[in-house]
Amino acid sequence: MRKRLGIISLFVILFIAFIAIWNYSYQLGLEEAYIPIEASSNVHAIPSESGVFKRSQHALDYEGMPVDGKHQRSLTTYYNNRAYHGAPPSIPHSVDEHQNMGGQSCLKCHENGGFTEKFQAYAPVTPHPELVNCKQCHVEQNTQTLFKTGDYASVVAPETGVNNALLGSPPMIPHQIQLRENCLSCHAGPSAPKEIRVSHPERVNCRQCHVPNNKEMTAVETFKRAGNEE
Ligand code: HEC
Ligand code: HEC
Ligand code: HEC
Ligand code: HEC
Repeated sequence: MRKRLGIISLFVILFIAFIAIWNYSYQLGLEEAYIPIEASSNVHAIPSESGVFKRSQHALDYEGMPVDGKHQRSLTTYYNNRAYHGAPPSIPHSVDEHQNMGGQSCLKCHENGGFTEKFQAYAPVTPHPELVNCKQCHVEQNTQTLFKTGDYASVVAPETGVNNALLGSPPMIPHQIQLRENCLSCHAGPSAPKEIRVSHPERVNCRQCHVPNNKEMTAVETFKRAGNEE
């Protein structure tokens, strides 16, 4: 009798353990997918240009990705969500309480993008997954009505399609590079605004051909050593 009870309780324990483990792995599977950031890469790049390699492991995936015509972003919606050119965009969707400062709760959608059923849109890939306090800079849209339009001059975004020196030559980068080192995050994949989606994500080393258009640069005078001007 005791032996039988022992065997039965052993099976009951095994059964409960099975349910607990199965439930745990099922709950894990329900989390929105995310791929951890690679700790380091073996690319030896010029430090100021290393950002262009940040998503290079996805370059070939982007090349083969089909275009989902119905859910494309355009530059108009892109600019509408920013107070001025280069400003951090506001968060256009609801955010749960537990997604407080950001971090992994935002990165599970924004690290690699992908289609989000509940917002019926592709999550834009963040160019800066390492700045984990997302809400330090990105705020939710709480109201559309409280503020009146002011007459502050807004920063005009540079034009696209006019930055080539010659027909067919690589366009210059018309925007600043700071916070925009990670080119593929904005220029590739289904969340990239359609006007600036790059036709050649597989070329990876973007700045080999595209140079920043630094319009503020002033001519450097010829150097003359003091007391040497005869
Ligand atoms: C369930 C997936 C998901 C989660 C979690 C999520 N987002 Fe988003 N996010 C999206 C999608 C999809 C869009 C695009 C919405 C659209 O285009 O209508 C978006 C858009 C944005 C944008 C606008 C980007 C732009 O270029 O205009 C910002 C900023 C943003 N999210 C920040 C956050 C922050 C911060 C968090 C964490 C507090 C977060 N998101 C959590 C899916 C998500
Ligand atoms: C230090 C401030 C700061 C922090 C912290 C920050 N961002 Fe940003 N973010 C910006 C700015 C500024 C831009 C606009 C860059 C531009 O347009 O040049 C931006 C752009 C974005 C975009 C738009 C990319 C696109 O395709 O246009 C997304 C998405 C985004 N951030 C998500 C996040 C997420 C998620 C986090 C947290 C993991 C985060 N950001 C943390 C300042 C910040
Ligand atoms: C935060 C998102 C973002 C990142 C990161 C980014 N860009 Fe851009 N890029 C844009 C936007 C938006 C435009 C359209 C003009 C503007 O608003 O500045 C643009 C325009 C361009 C153009 C001009 C295209 C044309 O048709 O004239 C080139 C070239 C370009 N980017 C190259 C790059 C390179 C190279 C990098 C990486 C060093 C990079 N971009 C990083 C958002 C981004
Ligand atoms: C080997 C040189 C080279 C490299 C590397 C390169 N590009 Fe280009 N890119 C070009 C040329 C040439 C054009 C002009 C194409 C045309 O006019 O048909 C161009 C055009 C573009 C445009 C305008 C839209 C388009 O696709 O025609 C964008 C945006 C752009 N490149 C971004 C990038 C980004 C981001 C990278 C890095 C992943 C990159 N490029 C790497 C040569 C290059």
